[in-house]
Amino acid sequence: MPKPKILIVDDEYLIRWSLSENLQKEGYRCVTAENGEEALELFRTEGPDLVLLDIKLPGIDGIQVLQQIKEADPDIPVLMITATTQVEVAVKAMKLGAYDYVSKPFDLTEIQTKVQHALETTQLRQEVAYFRSRHAHRLGFDAIIAGCPRMQEVLSVARRVARSSSTTVLLTGESGTGKDVLARAIHYESPRADRPFMPINCTALPEELLESELMGYEKGAFTDAKKTKKGLFELADGGTIFLDEIGDMKPGLQSKLLRFLEDRSFKRVGGKEDIEVDVRIIAATNADLERAIEEKRFREDLFYRLSVVPIVLPPLRDRQEDILPLAYHFLETFNREFKTSFRGFSAEAEAFLTRYDWPGNIRELRNVVERAVILSTGEEIGVDALPWKIKGGERAGGVRRPGEEPQPGVVVLPDHGVDIEEVERELIVQALEKTGNNQTRAAKMLGLTRDALRYRMKKYDLL
Ligand SMILES: Nc1ncnc2c1ncn2[C@@H]1O[C@H](COP(=O)(O)OP(=O)(O)OP(=O)(O)O)[C@@H](O)[C@H]1O
Ligand SMILES: [Mg+2]
Repeated sequence: MPKPKILIVDDEYLIRWSLSENLQKEGYRCVTAENGEEALELFRTEGPDLVLLDIKLPGIDGIQVLQQIKEADPDIPVLMITATTQVEVAVKAMKLGAYDYVSKPFDLTEIQTKVQHALETTQLRQEVAYFRSRHAHRLGFDAIIAGCPRMQEVLSVARRVARSSSTTVLLTGESGTGKDVLARAIHYESPRADRPFMPINCTALPEELLESELMGYEKGAFTDAKKTKKGLFELADGGTIFLDEIGDMKPGLQSKLLRFLEDRSFKRVGGKEDIEVDVRIIAATNADLERAIEEKRFREDLFYRLSVVPIVLPPLRDRQEDILPLAYHFLETFNREFKTSFRGFSAEAEAFLTRYDWPGNIRELRNVVERAVILSTGEEIGVDALPWKIKGGERAGGVRRPGEEPQPGVVVLPDHGVDIEEVERELIVQALEKTGNNQTRAAKMLGLTRDALRYRMKKYDLL
């Protein structure tokens, strides 16, 4: 990596000289300009990574130079150099996008620290922007499979709500129906896309912790509060907060959230000051909020505030035509992940997938496809690789008891009996054969961990 290049602009020769001597010793490359015109010229020809800019210059002054630089490159950090009497101008410069300022007479170490800090922050910002742009397409509406009319309707509402950048959204639907995916898509297709998306699960934390996570706290608010800490509301400013499992939020915090939704302001824990932020709230739940309201566990007024735009995600069993497109979508995903190249599912397997009622919804379908890809060989996923519950058996739900009908396909005990260890050994050998001696996949086929499989292989002298 080339060393960062700094453009130093000051009309005093001694200042230019001492700054560039000092910064070069720190390993930076420096170019200097003594007036605004020269500064803008060098800015274009040298492409510096940072500008140190005196406010008071002959000809076009520092503020104008700053404006032109920021127009050309809004991301470049500019550190202003001011006389102590120019503080108001310095503040104006900050408003125009200057990164920070140092007052004359300055301390060289202070300048070094600020330069280093500005360069690091800018690099981090660029990395984040790069990461976001690379992932944006995977996070938007295009990644959501929605063929059936009900999902088309869901997406069209979601698209509209994404554009209206502050509207609160309530997503409801059974577990695994895609609430997370949709919340993210709304954020990444909204004008807030380049600001943070911050998910938080309301079940995962005790009430007080959740409150300080969301609202932050003041130094001394409680024993461990050694210094003031910002909460998600502040950190997500300009972005979106995703309150997952909102149904589990405790009433005390519900009131605070309600207040926030009403006037977009809140107080840190232990704080007196009202803090205003601009965030969109997307809430989600798989619980029956109406029942929670009847049982007085959820505030009715909060429910109405949250459901400005309610979106209901249908369970997979009501979206039968989406089952195969989703299955093929996941097949592609896992082909890529496991470097396999299955072309599809056999007709019989497709029929089972379509007929099953998917209580765990899309997440369950995804897991079934993952398991099938691991267990299968050949070009197609056949019924063998599908779990019993999908093929109409109940085995997954419980163990068959003596006297009950055996499931088709489960081993039948011959009348003359067997040596159970011999059967175990034989099954292990077959699993290894079927998977081309791949122990991880063989273990999956037998419902064992790889270690448990290796233990048995050792026992049967198969290693
Ligand atoms: N329409 C869709 N297209 C493609 N993948 C989807 C779709 N909906 C959900 N998925 C995938 O299904 C899985 C479950 O989705 P998600 O986590 O969004 O469900 P959820 O409703 O938030 O569940 P929970 O209530 O348990 O939190 C994820 O792996 C997600 O990527
Ligand atoms: Mg979720």
